[in-house]
Amino acid sequence: MMKMYGMITWFMKLSILSMLLMALDTTEAQKQLKLGFYRTTCPAAEKIVRDTVSKAVTANPGMAAGILRLYFHDCFVRGCDASLLLKTVPKSASESEQDAGPNAGTLRGLEIIDQAKAKLETACPNTVSCADILAFAARDSTNIVGGFSYAIPSGRRDGRVSNIDEVDLPSPSFDLNTLKKTFMAKGLSVGDMVALSGAHSIGRAGCNFVASNPSLDPTYAKAVKSKCRKSGNSGTTNLDPVSANRLDSQYYLNVKQHKVLFSSDQSLLDSKFTATLVTKYSRNLTAWRNDFAAAMIRLGSLDVLTGTKGEIRKRCGVRN
Ligand code: HEM
Ligand SMILES: *[C@@H]1O[C@H](CO)[C@@H](O)[C@H](O)[C@H]1NC(C)=O
Repeated sequence: MMKMYGMITWFMKLSILSMLLMALDTTEAQKQLKLGFYRTTCPAAEKIVRDTVSKAVTANPGMAAGILRLYFHDCFVRGCDASLLLKTVPKSASESEQDAGPNAGTLRGLEIIDQAKAKLETACPNTVSCADILAFAARDSTNIVGGFSYAIPSGRRDGRVSNIDEVDLPSPSFDLNTLKKTFMAKGLSVGDMVALSGAHSIGRAGCNFVASNPSLDPTYAKAVKSKCRKSGNSGTTNLDPVSANRLDSQYYLNVKQHKVLFSSDQSLLDSKFTATLVTKYSRNLTAWRNDFAAAMIRLGSLDVLTGTKGEIRKRCGVRN
């Protein structure tokens, strides 16, 4: 026993310590939020969001993908404070997050969040934050197109700042090390990153991305390129060629078979740790669902505003 202990180097002790601190840090953030935050102040809040999302996603399943991406892009930048939902103020000197490269022209589902907000302002004015609406909507989208659910803590408040220069989202051309650094800098683990990447089992990408993964399966590459050429390369193509509207672990099979459009997705095979997770998830839907749900909850606790910080926006696109 003593000998084993002696084998743990200082470096390992330090990294274990920092990992523990990081875990404590996210638990702290999660503690600020709580399950059923609106139980007394707006009991119908989660149901109102669910009904709105359900209607929109039934009419257009692509909206589930749009909403999941909104949640990721909001929480990753300046925390889950609905900063992504703020539109650029006309004639103002600075642009909002919405105008940044990864967002401009490709965000879907903003109007669904606005619809839910409008209904909530009638039912319980000035009570439910846009940040929480988005967190509920991402959970509901997961449920509708994935067939599984999770309880998501709430109590987030809305920020008053949205700045194009702060958008530091990962790029589809990132290699594994850069991706890992990007996620860890936000307080998410590499495991979280692999589990969350399964979101690429739904939705679409612009045809401009089809040449991004140089090791794309040649037959698949040919098919996608030809389809995109027909749309004059201005169209989009499904991220998951097998089950485009089903949130499942098909993504991990696609990674293994080199049928993922982005080299960032492909890079999950570039380390033993991430490749092992890819294999595990490709074989075990339950394992992926559990880890995805847990990672979505952690994503939803990044840099949240609670208590008296921030505000409860009246409309999600503009600050009060
Ligand atoms: C790991 C790093 C990631 C990179 C590099 C990345 C990159 C991208 C890119 C380039 C697109 C296509 C956008 C377009 O055509 O303009 C996309 C779409 C999408 N991403 Fe990611 N993404 C990442 C992680 C995530 C995560 C963590 C989630 C959610 C949990 C997510 C959810 C989605 C969804 C659902 C779509 C489809 C959106 C739609 O159909 O409207 N992505 N992603
Ligand atoms: C799949 O994952 C679940 C959850 O982690 C686990 O309980 C189960 O034993 C796994 N199944 C197989 C076949 O490995």
